[in-house]
Amino acid sequence: MTTTPTTHQNYLNGRWQDAKSGRTFERENPADGEIIGRFPDSGPDDVAVAAKAAADAFERWRFTPAPKRAEILFRAAEMLLARKEELARDVTVEMGKVLAEARGDVQEAIDMTYYVAGEGRRQAGQTIPSELPNKLCMTFRQPHGVIAAITPWNFPSAIPCWKLMPALITGNTAVFKPSPYSPLSAANLVRILEEAGLPPGVVNLVFGGDEAGAALVEDPRVAMVSFTGSLEVGREIAAYCGGHGKRVHLELGGKNAIIVLDDADLDLAIDGAVWSAFGTSGQRCTAASRMIVQDRVRDEFTDRLVTRASALRLGNGLDAGTDVGPVVNTESLDKITRYMDIGRDEGASIAAGGSRASGNGLDRGYFFQPTVFTDVQPGMRIAQEEIFGPVTDVITCSDLDHGVAIANDVPYGLVASIFTRDISKAMRAMERISTGIVYINAGTIGAEVQLPFGGTRGTGNGHREAGQAALDSYSEWKSVYIDYSGRLQKAQIDP
Ligand code: UN1
Repeated sequence: MTTTPTTHQNYLNGRWQDAKSGRTFERENPADGEIIGRFPDSGPDDVAVAAKAAADAFERWRFTPAPKRAEILFRAAEMLLARKEELARDVTVEMGKVLAEARGDVQEAIDMTYYVAGEGRRQAGQTIPSELPNKLCMTFRQPHGVIAAITPWNFPSAIPCWKLMPALITGNTAVFKPSPYSPLSAANLVRILEEAGLPPGVVNLVFGGDEAGAALVEDPRVAMVSFTGSLEVGREIAAYCGGHGKRVHLELGGKNAIIVLDDADLDLAIDGAVWSAFGTSGQRCTAASRMIVQDRVRDEFTDRLVTRASALRLGNGLDAGTDVGPVVNTESLDKITRYMDIGRDEGASIAAGGSRASGNGLDRGYFFQPTVFTDVQPGMRIAQEEIFGPVTDVITCSDLDHGVAIANDVPYGLVASIFTRDISKAMRAMERISTGIVYINAGTIGAEVQLPFGGTRGTGNGHREAGQAALDSYSEWKSVYIDYSGRLQKAQIDP
C-alpha cells in the first residue's frame, strides 16, 4: 500500500502469483501520469485456475456456519477501518478522486462490510402455514456457487465490498476481477481478506482487462456474474448469461436528473447541483448530468451554477486545495471532448468549461473543466447519453409534471432528485419518478449501504446491490416441506 511503483500478483487459491504468460500491465496516476504499479495481465489460463479454486472451495465454505463466516468479515471491516487513511490515498492515487471522497469510498466499504457481517446471524427465512395438517413449510437461502465480481474503477474500495461481502455471507465463493484502472485498491482489499482469515480459494483475485473478463464470464464454473460498468458491456454479458443459463446482476449507467422547482431553496439546490454534477469529476453512476429547472428560476439557477462550476479548483486529489480531480484516462478525456462537439452541433451552448484543462501542471494529467451546457433540449444526445465526466445540462421545465416527464424520458433509471418546499409536490414527484433511488431536497449522490441500490430500465436488470436486497441477488430461496403426518398427504387434491 504505497504510492511508489510496486509489482503485484494475482491471488489464486490462497497463493500470490504472476500471470501464467508473465505479461503485466502498468497503471498510471491519472493526475500526473506517474506509474503507480505493475499488475498481471491475466488470460484465460489464469482465470481457469481462479474459477477452479473457487469451485473447489465452495462446498466447505457454504457449510461453514454463517456466523463463523461473518467473524472473518467483521475482522476485515476492523482492518479496513484501521487502515482507512492509507487505503484512501491509494484510491486517490490510482483513479484521481479527491482525498475526502476517497475516504468516503473506503468508509462505504467499511459500512458495507460491517452491515453484511451482521447478516451472519440474520439472513432469516420464513415459516409459513401449510394447507395440510401435520406439515411444516419453511424457506431458507442457498448460495449460487462461484460468483464473478467484475468491478469498475470509480468506487474501487466500495463496489468490490458491495459485491464480495454479500456473496460471501450467503455462502458463495468468488473470482474478483477489478478494473485495470483501479488495481491497487483491489490488491489491498484481498490482502485484508487474507489476513482476516478467509480460507484459500474463497476469493480469488485476477487482474486484467477485457480478455480476462470475457474468459471469466464464459467459464462454466461461474454460476453468477455481478457486473458494474457500461451499458454496452453489460448487455453483452447479459446476452451471454441469458444464453447459458447463468445468473447475472447488472449495475450500468445513469443519466440522473435534479429537478428544481420555483419554490425551492435555491442555495440548497445549487449546493446539491454542484456536488452531484462535479463530485468525483462526474464519474459516478449517480452523478447529476441533467438539471431540470422550472422556467421562473432557470436564469438565476444557471448563472449561479456557472459561477460555482467555473470557480472549482482542479488538481491532484491529494492536495488539500483541490475540488475536482482528473478523469480516469485518456479515452475518457477524448470521449468527454467529443461530447462538446456533439452538444454544439445539436444547438446547445457551453456556459462554463468546455475543454481540457491546462496550465499549473494539469497537462500531465487528464483534467477536464467542469462544464455546463445550456439551451439543451431533452431529446439531445448530451441529455440522453451517459458522458461520465464533469459535464451537466440545464433543461427548462414549465411545472412539476413536465419536469418529471423529462426526468423519466431517458434510457436509464438510477437516481433523481427534486428540490421544492412544497410537500405535496415532493410526494407527487416521489411517486412518479421512475428511478430506483429518489432524493427530496438533496443531490443525487450519497446512497447508504443499508438501502437497496440500483435502477430501472437500462441501469440494471432488476437486481439491487446493498441493503437486504443484496442477499436476494446473491442467494436463491429454497422452500422445504416437512410432512410429519405419517401418511401421503396430497396438496391441491380434494379429499
Ligand atoms: C456509483 O457511482 O457507482 O451514492 C456508486 C453514491 C455512492 C455510490 C455510487 N454512495 O453516489
